[in-house]
Amino acid sequence: MIHVFKAAKQANKPTFLLLHGTGGTEKDLIPLADMIDPEAAVLSVRGNVSEHGMPRFFKRLAEGVFDEEDLIFRTGELRDFLDEAAEKYEFDRDNIIAIGYSNGANIAASLLYHFSDSLKGAILHHPMVPRRNITLAKQQGTPIFITAGDNDPICPRSEAIELEQMLREAGADASIHWESNGHSLTHTEVQAAAEWYRKHF
Ligand code: MLT
Repeated sequence: MIHVFKAAKQANKPTFLLLHGTGGTEKDLIPLADMIDPEAAVLSVRGNVSEHGMPRFFKRLAEGVFDEEDLIFRTGELRDFLDEAAEKYEFDRDNIIAIGYSNGANIAASLLYHFSDSLKGAILHHPMVPRRNITLAKQQGTPIFITAGDNDPICPRSEAIELEQMLREAGADASIHWESNGHSLTHTEVQAAAEWYRKHF
């Protein structure tokens, strides 16, 4: 997968897995990593799917309607990539914290739904429910911070609440921070994520 990697500035720091929104690139979320912990390592990945030239992490059939088969395949592909990248760049595979926005938050949520050992924690900005009617992988206390817009037209309020509940039922320590700026990723929610990170890591 196309990506950028920056080594940690201090030993024992986590690696931030950065996952952009639809039409983004691996460069988009790098400023977020700097705001949350400038000493952490960064593995920022570009989605392998192209929708009319816009990178995404999995195919969709329509706005908000996911291609489930492709989502499952791409989730496994990303997980394998994390294993390979940890070996290549010699960072701790068990200390990866995802930071995703929109489509990137959705593939991060899918990693959490399908695999117990994929992420140490996650910051999900404006996510949706990746799949329904499946048994989720166990998440024993995995810290997860969801930020959502109570007036988000793309990722509805109800989906953020359902996602939080599903992750909690799977054992995660999930919480939601609310904003009222539609689907936009705002400075205040990134600040809230930074505070949450300092408390949990
Ligand atoms: C998705 O397709 O993952 C969501 O609808 C969000 C987005 O537009 O990327």
